[in-house]
Amino acid sequence: MEDKTINSISNLTQPSTKERSQSVLEIWGRNPLQGNVKISGAKNSALVLMAGSLLCPKDCRLRNVPSLVDISRMSQILTSLGVKLTKNGDVLDIDARDINPTAAPYDIVSQLRASFFAVGPLLARFGTVKIPLPGGCDIGARPVKLHIQGLQAMGASVLIESGIVHADVKGSNRRLQGAKIYLDYPSVGATETLLMAATLAEGETTIENAAQEPEIVDLANFCIAMGAKIYGAGTNKITIVGVDRLHSVDYAVIPDRIEAGTFLVAGAITHSEITVSSAIADHLVPVIAKLEAIGCRIINEGENCLRLIPGELKATDIETLPYPGFPTDMQAQFMALLCFSEGNSVISETVFENRLRHVAELQRMGANIRLKGNHALIQGVPFLSGAPVMSTDLRASAALILAGLAAQGKTIVRGLHHLDRGYEDIENKLRKLGARIERVTESN
Ligand code: EPU
Repeated sequence: MEDKTINSISNLTQPSTKERSQSVLEIWGRNPLQGNVKISGAKNSALVLMAGSLLCPKDCRLRNVPSLVDISRMSQILTSLGVKLTKNGDVLDIDARDINPTAAPYDIVSQLRASFFAVGPLLARFGTVKIPLPGGCDIGARPVKLHIQGLQAMGASVLIESGIVHADVKGSNRRLQGAKIYLDYPSVGATETLLMAATLAEGETTIENAAQEPEIVDLANFCIAMGAKIYGAGTNKITIVGVDRLHSVDYAVIPDRIEAGTFLVAGAITHSEITVSSAIADHLVPVIAKLEAIGCRIINEGENCLRLIPGELKATDIETLPYPGFPTDMQAQFMALLCFSEGNSVISETVFENRLRHVAELQRMGANIRLKGNHALIQGVPFLSGAPVMSTDLRASAALILAGLAAQGKTIVRGLHHLDRGYEDIENKLRKLGARIERVTESN
């Protein structure tokens, strides 16, 4: 791919929203899969590392950056702040020397919650920031109170007016102050915002009850590679000793554990032996444990390669929890799998309040699921039938594809704007494994 400087919406590599909303996936189920699938860089790491690059007034290079709509939107946010971006394949060069910390546009921030993560780095580096509140989304209300309370504890004055967050640090050097912060909930986003903010604060910050997700560790390693002093990332207590400035960095994003988990489920649901690489087994402990409870075996083949050996599928119970608990981002995909697993399973969604809307779509395909509050009671059935279904959010769209791969007949998955936010090239990857899946444009 040619060198490409990203400076406006028109030269991003994604299809337009209109094209995406008109295209659908047609899947003919019950084709066995085989071979190896290559996993892309982690969306949720790449997004926060892009925000983290705002801390650095020098060149940053990120490798293994996936091509996704969410990454394009984050690129637009950075560009609107004045950042110069150059993308060459999966390498993204970021130059945030001359930027305006108050220029984030409402319409893009409202489409991408992760863009709010810019608040921490901008406030830490400039002592002032103006950024729209991100609002709710398809899976829940998703407040940012914990982000804001933490920044206030570090000395920021925060005013929310007409949907815009204005944050300032008073004093001659406009520098955030280290603080002891306890999070009421181990929020991934709040931990990331506060970790980034603390890298340039004066003195020591501790974040207690911090999130422990691999993406937090990746962000800490990225900041450490720029000269930050961070200890304990990946545990529930992170200590950050502020430094005066950060320097250039060349850093590779970790593999996407949710994409890897989704492909492992694709093997399980089609009774196919496949390998998945690069996938870090340590990041997938709860996913592997549940696949084994359901009847599959996972063999670690070294060099970050996992082999799925399929088995007779049987019921199990799953409760989503903060890491190292079972990830909410894999809940929908496992629901598709449990629809085919003999016996009764219960899935409890505890992280987001509105993340079970795929139940109605799976029911359309013949799944036997009852909803009781945040619990889905699933009775395995011998088969599902292909049907037209609508994606309700990103991970739900993956679940419907998985169900389609195992169902009898043809499934049509609509609402692909959700899918394209977070899965790079999924239909080509599945086709290479042997799936019959096509993206077609529907004529109205
Ligand atoms: N929460 C609060 N107050 C806050 C912040 C969060 O109540 O100030 C609540 C949320 O409403 C939610 C829960 O805490 O009920 C978890 O939210 P968290 O902040 O941990 O999640 P996030 O940072 O908004 C990230 C991922 C999500 C992933 C969650 C949980 C990114 C860009 N997003 O969201 O990814 O589900 O962590 O692991 O990193 C996805 O990729 O499909 C996705 C939704």
